[in-house]
Order: sequence, then C-alpha cells, then structure tokens
Amino acid sequence: MAKPVRKAVLPVAGLGTRVLPGTKTTPKELLNVVDRPILSYIVEEGRAAGIEHFVFVTGRGKGAIEDYFDHHVELEAQLEAKGKLDLLADVRRDLPRPGEMSFVRQMSPLGLGHAVWCARDIIGDEPFAVMLPDMLMMAGTAALAQCVEAHNRTGSNIIAVEPAPEGETNKYGIVALDGRDGRLNRMTGMVEKPPLGTEPSNLFISGRYILQPEIFELLARQGKGAGGEIQLTDAMAELMKVQPFHALEYDGTTYDCGDKIGLLRANVAYALARPELSEAARAVIQALL
Ligand code: UTP
Repeated sequence: MAKPVRKAVLPVAGLGTRVLPGTKTTPKELLNVVDRPILSYIVEEGRAAGIEHFVFVTGRGKGAIEDYFDHHVELEAQLEAKGKLDLLADVRRDLPRPGEMSFVRQMSPLGLGHAVWCARDIIGDEPFAVMLPDMLMMAGTAALAQCVEAHNRTGSNIIAVEPAPEGETNKYGIVALDGRDGRLNRMTGMVEKPPLGTEPSNLFISGRYILQPEIFELLARQGKGAGGEIQLTDAMAELMKVQPFHALEYDGTTYDCGDKIGLLRANVAYALARPELSEAARAVIQALL
C-alpha cells in the first residue's frame, strides 16, 4: 500500500518578475484574487486533500507570507469590538493549527528544483506534494485530492496535467504518455516548451505533483538546466528512469496567476463563480466590452 501523503511543499521564493512592480513589496503569492490572497486558495486546496503540514520555501522580502498565517491582534480586536464577526471569522479562516506550517529559507532563487530541495529535512522519507502557489485550480474535488487519490491507487509519482489551449503547447512543460486511456496514464517523458508540431501530447504540467522522497537525492546533484536554473523537471526525468510516473488529467481548470492576463482571468473566473458576486461581475464585464 502507498504511504500516505501528509506534507506539501509550497515554493514561494521566486521574484515574480512577470507581475512587477506590484511584486516589488508584495509577494506574488499574496496578490488577491477577488478578496483572498492566492495562497489562501492553495492552502484550502491542500487541506481538502488531507495535507497536515505545509512547508513554505520563502526568500528575502517574503516575510508578509508568515504574517498572513499568524494572528493580527489589533485588527482582530477592532473587528470584534465593532461586532463584525463574519469578517473576523473570514480573517481567521486561514490560520494554521499550531505546528501545521514550517518556513524554510531559499537564500538565492536558484530554481524550482532547488527550492523543493530546501525542504528535504522537513519532508523526510515519505511521499509528498508540491503545489505551485501561483497556479490556482478550480475544481469540484480539490485538484490535489485527485492527485492523492491517483497516488494511493498506483503508488507512483503523479503529475497533474491539463489540455493546453490550441496552438499553445510551446509555452508549457508537456508530458509524453505510454498510450492514452482515460485520465490517468503512465508517462514516458516530458519536454519543456516543445516547438509547435513536435509536442508529444497536448497535456501541460499544471502545478501539482506527488513525488517520492528519492527525488531529493537527484536534486542534491544541483545540476543546472534551462535558464541556468536547478529544474525540478530535470530531476523528475531522472527519477522516471527508475520509478513509475503517471500523468493525471485532473477534472478542473488551471488559472496561471503568475502573469498579468492570467491573474486577470483568475479574478474574473473566481468572481463569476461566487454566488454573491456573480451577477455584478457579469454586468461589469459586459459594460466594459
Ligand atoms: P515561477 O518561475 O513561476 O515564479 O516559479 P517566479 O520566478 O517568481 O516568476 P517570474 O517568472 O519571475 O515572473 C514557480 C513557483 O516557484 C517558486 C516561485 O515563487 C513560484 O511560486 N520559485 C521559483 C521558488 O520558490 N524559487 C525559485 O528559485 C524559483
């Protein structure tokens, strides 16, 4: 039987250059989508998947993330005094149980693989999740819960994938499959941003992974890949030589909040999905067209 997935790594040390200058002083992962920071949705998704411990890999200028997951004594006292109890409950909703979160520092943003490696001692010798915190996944059953279920079924490494929009496979990491039958398929490889016409499938790697701890030995080699960065993709490709990987075409939609239009799209989609905002959001959008 597969070991349970209890811990998740959330790499939040990147510079967020695609949405500067907003991210000069506000971490990208704390930008609001409607009225909640992106990380609030991610932690909610992780909890829905049974994650008991979140490991944030932070960096310089990211201290606001720790503050977000702590009490704001003055604010809470003010809301209480004014009887704004619904808002108070909302403000407290994301607070961790004692010990539910750890913060480890990536001192230089050397790449996603390096960020994940920084969490190795806290993860230890068990399978774990990686959640890219700038990718929001709107789904009936939480996207990570779907990945955990696939892991429990196969005992294998899992990568969440989604069909790329027509003609855009060259913008993403794309998976190669050993045949395609249903939503969960054994992988044979992956390729970063393949030129159009050479893509092995139309499925892009969308930001949720379940990985076996052996990935850390491969990341420890600190090999540099595309862009001179230590890439998670390279270590996964190595691990795939000795362990099975499955791509899960999860049921839901990914919103990439890491660039301007993606962040706008996420705001529109999440506002439309909120019953109390949907009508007003629709009216505003129509008026602007
Ligand atoms: P991205 O490449 O999307 O984030 O990495 P970035 O580097 O912040 O963005 P741009 O390209 O400059 O706009 C995906 C996730 O990995 C984290 C980022 O914080 C982001 O959440 N990351 C990336 C790290 O934690 N460390 C790194 O060295 C690189």
